[in-house]
Amino acid sequence: MEADAKSAIIRIFHVFKSYGTKKALVDITLDILKNEFVLVTGPSGAGKTTLLKLLYLGEPASEGQILVDGINLSRIPRKRVPILRRKFGIIFQDYKLIPQKSVYENVALVLEAAGKRKRLIQKKVRSVLRTVNMEDKIDALPPSLSGGEQQRVAVARAVVGDPKIILADEPTGSLDEDSAKDIINLLKGFHTRGGTVIVATHDKDLIRKTRGRLVRLGMGQLMDSTERLSPAAEEQAG
Ligand SMILES: Nc1ncnc2c1ncn2[C@@H]1O[C@H](COP(=O)(O)OP(=O)(O)O)[C@@H](O)[C@H]1O
Ligand SMILES: [Mg+2]
Repeated sequence: MEADAKSAIIRIFHVFKSYGTKKALVDITLDILKNEFVLVTGPSGAGKTTLLKLLYLGEPASEGQILVDGINLSRIPRKRVPILRRKFGIIFQDYKLIPQKSVYENVALVLEAAGKRKRLIQKKVRSVLRTVNMEDKIDALPPSLSGGEQQRVAVARAVVGDPKIILADEPTGSLDEDSAKDIINLLKGFHTRGGTVIVATHDKDLIRKTRGRLVRLGMGQLMDSTERLSPAAEEQAG
């Protein structure tokens, strides 16, 4: 376990998750390495969302062990859960922005919760909104934005706290092709800067355009895990 543990940021060991009699995940064993870009795919109901939820303790596993950056999730004291959550930036298909708070406030909340100083928050939020090209909509409320714009704000919120890992659950599922491309490129940018990215998706286009590991789930089981070095590296620019 020692040698592997060096480069693994997430270790999933014989994990099961049941909802009543429904088995959502069955005996999943998987390591995710630092700075990997992992696509978790599989049909609807395969367990993709459940797998992501277990990683940030949105739900506890029913059996098995999960280690995130050295933290054993089955043993973590309640007061350390916020420390675990700060390791993740999370992006959902439906954005999950707070509708009555401005773009600025939605992103700033993460840093406020982490107890950062106001001056630093202002600087950081502006800078991250610039990288997702939303600086000019800083005072807008989410319902006035397009889906693509809302998802760019969600990406800003996910990265503003400098997480080690991004979890994205069908991040392009509600977007048109151009907006989806923006989101994919932002995820790739986070990866290029050294982050670990885990995307649950059945978006064929996203899968086709992304290098990294493809992990396939089927009926809660790990079907296979394959490295794809360069399916379409030339598309980086486009
Ligand atoms: N809260 C829940 N209660 C009961 N069953 C659930 C719950 N969440 C997920 N499931 C079931 O677990 C299985 C996996 O779901 P999910 O992880 O959402 O799959 P995916 O994201 O791949 O579509 C499905 O059969 C789903 O109906
Ligand atoms: Mg899902």
